[in-house]
Order: sequence, then structure tokens, then C-alpha cells
Amino acid sequence: MLEGKNILVGITGGIAAYKICSLIRLYKKAGASVRVVATPNALKFVTKLTLQTISNNDVYVEQFDIDEYRPEHIALTDADIFVIAPTTANTIGKIANGICDNLLTTTACAFTKPTLIVPAMNNNMWNNKFVQENITKLENAGYKILHPSDGFLACGTNAIGRMKEPEEIFEATVKIFEQKIQKLSGKKILITTGGTKEKIDPVRYITNNSSGKMGIALANTAAKMGAEVTLISTFKVEGNFKNIVTETAREMENAVKNNLAPQDCIIMAAAVSDYRAASYSEQKIKKTDSDRISLELVKNPDILKEISALQSNKIIVGFCAESENLLENANAKIKNKGCDYIIANDISRSDIGFNSDENEVYIIDKNLNTKHIEKDTKQNIAVKILEKIFE
Ligand SMILES: Cc1cc2nc3c(=O)[nH]c(=O)nc-3n(C[C@H](O)[C@H](O)[C@H](O)COP(=O)(O)O)c2cc1C
Repeated sequence: MLEGKNILVGITGGIAAYKICSLIRLYKKAGASVRVVATPNALKFVTKLTLQTISNNDVYVEQFDIDEYRPEHIALTDADIFVIAPTTANTIGKIANGICDNLLTTTACAFTKPTLIVPAMNNNMWNNKFVQENITKLENAGYKILHPSDGFLACGTNAIGRMKEPEEIFEATVKIFEQKIQKLSGKKILITTGGTKEKIDPVRYITNNSSGKMGIALANTAAKMGAEVTLISTFKVEGNFKNIVTETAREMENAVKNNLAPQDCIIMAAAVSDYRAASYSEQKIKKTDSDRISLELVKNPDILKEISALQSNKIIVGFCAESENLLENANAKIKNKGCDYIIANDISRSDIGFNSDENEVYIIDKNLNTKHIEKDTKQNIAVKILEKIFE
């Protein structure tokens, strides 16, 4: 969920500031890029050098320390989220009242994406009438507040005011991203994935190199985006969706047709064998003296073409894996199949496509408008595909 995200961590002058080193590590481990903005008082509790080393980035403190014309309080707002932890009573008061007297409070004022405030302070400070009014004001304005816990405080008492632990702040951050991407709630999506297997005899079959990873990434991502997902795959897949396992093209065709009615969208990412053995041999085919034998093949159903012809009110998406003339073949395929979108990928490249965790695709619509999605993880490619087709 945090892979590739740009997180701005704000640190203020509270005793819990030292714990933010662990939080930064959790974000980094999850694949996020972290920049830190600290108040001058925060650096009395944790050093700039430590924060720089852990975040692998510059630490921003001074508002008027500008090398080139790029005011940092505006430059820092390109982050996906601003997590201010710990947030002192002082900084809470300033943000709630639009005061911008240091780089952190000025950045908070200019920040338009989600801000997570993680208060930490002595219990009397937390219960102070003005602090509570400021918290309510921030909550009403859409700021996310991770309320402090009851626990052992640095001042020696056991009371409310203790900052939530780094793991809990991490979870709260993930949740904000999850809520932000619940764009597909209420949608029903059927996805196929994997390479079909066409039996020749009890030990042999025709199949292909498809790993099913792109379809699994689409299923996981669509579920995270709030969709109700049915994944028809050629092997069992665990996830937050209904999974139906089929082996052959004809079994997959039946499963797709039986589950078609309620769907808003069908994404056919499976590599379906074009042909199957004309007859299945109940016994293992024996080696003979002949140097050649032939195997007669018959055409499998074209599931994508059939459902595209049937459905007018559903978004139908096919995949096109080509080893040459990628766009030419993909354009011909969308015309031939009659689907709404074709996702084309180049399987001649070993760094993307089959079995790789990364991909690079073109999304082509019925009018042959083509959108190039640059090389990225299959999870991130899945987000972009789903965003495009539900645009
Ligand atoms: C040892 C020590 C610990 C402190 N811990 C906290 C704290 O946990 N929460 C808080 O709101 N203020 C705390 N303060 C007070 C803040 O440091 C003070 O209000 C300061 O002005 C906050 O500045 P800032 O919000 O610009 O970082 C502490 C002060 C000291 C000396």
C-alpha cells in the first residue's frame, strides 16, 4: 500500500520525537520515500543527522534557508500525505489557527492532501480546554487525528496523553491510503488469470508460460479499491475475493458465463490456449518406432470475443501478449474481439511480462486511443489500469 508513496514526516518538540526514527524505518521498509520537516524545538530531542541518515534524505527545518528559488513549504507539499508525529500542544494550536511561524506550520497550512496529526503530551495539557477545542477544530476541518492513549507518560504519571506507537501510526497511515483509493466501492469485477491447461493424456498437457501475476495484482488492487471481485484462475489464489479454480479453456468459459450477470466489468487477463487436443487419450500415449507422430488440435472457444458480443452494459477488457509488432497486433485484436479495452504487453522483453513482478503496458480503447503506462510493479500498473477503465 505504501510502495512508491511520498510521505512527509513532521516532527515537533515533544519527548516522543525519538520514536519517530522507528516510524521512518517502517515507512522505508514498506517502500515509501520519506522526507522530514522538523521544528527547531524538535531538534532538541532528536538530531538532524539521525533523521537524515534514517530517511536517506535532507531534513528541512529553516524556513528562510533557500538555496535556489524554491520555497520549501511549497515544494514539500508534493507529498502524498503529511504525518506530524509527535504533534505538540503548541503546534496543534498553531495549525488550528492558521499560524505559520516556522517551516512545519507553514507547510501544514499549504498542504492540501491528507494530514495525520499524532498528539503527544502531558495529560493536563491534553485535557486543557483550548487544546481540546483546537483538536475539534482540526477534526471538523478534515484533519485526521490519531488520539493519544492512556499509558505511562514521560512526566512519571499513568494517564492520557501518550503518543500512539510507531506501528499504530504506520497502520493509521495505510488506512488513510486505503480509504483514499476506495474508488471502486459498489463495483463488481470478474478477473481471469493464469495459463489454461489442455490435457492430451493422463500425464501430458498443452499450456503456456503465464504466471498469472498480473491478474492477481488486478484482483488484489480492485479489492483494495473497494470492488467486489471474483477471480477465476488456473490455480488456487488466496485473497480478499471469491476464487474459482478452472483448468481448461472450456471450464474457464463456463465459469465466466455462470458468473457474468452481476458484473460491472470483466478483465480477461488469463492466457487461454487457442487450441486443445482434438481427443483426450484415456491411456498414456506410448512411444512408437516412428520418428514423427502428429497431434490433432481443435480451436478453443474465444471467451473474450463471445462475451464482448453478448454484453453491452459491461466494461470488457482483454489482454494482448505479443512478441512482435505490439501495437499493430493489439489494434487488430481490439477490432476483432469487440471489447472496450485491450491491455498490450511485450512478452519478448525478459524484464517485464511473463513471470516478472514488473510490467509495462499500453491501454488501448475502442477508438484506438493509446495510453502508455511506463515500467512499474504489477501492483502499480494494476492501479493505473483500473483508474483508466473506470475513469
Ligand atoms: C523535556 C521536554 C519535554 C516536552 N514534551 C512535550 C510533549 O510531549 N508534548 C508537548 O506538547 N510539549 C512538550 N514539551 C513542550 C514543547 O517542547 C514546547 O511547547 C515547544 O514550544 C514546542 O515547540 P514546537 O511545537 O514548535 O516543536 C516538552 C518540553 C520539554 C522541555
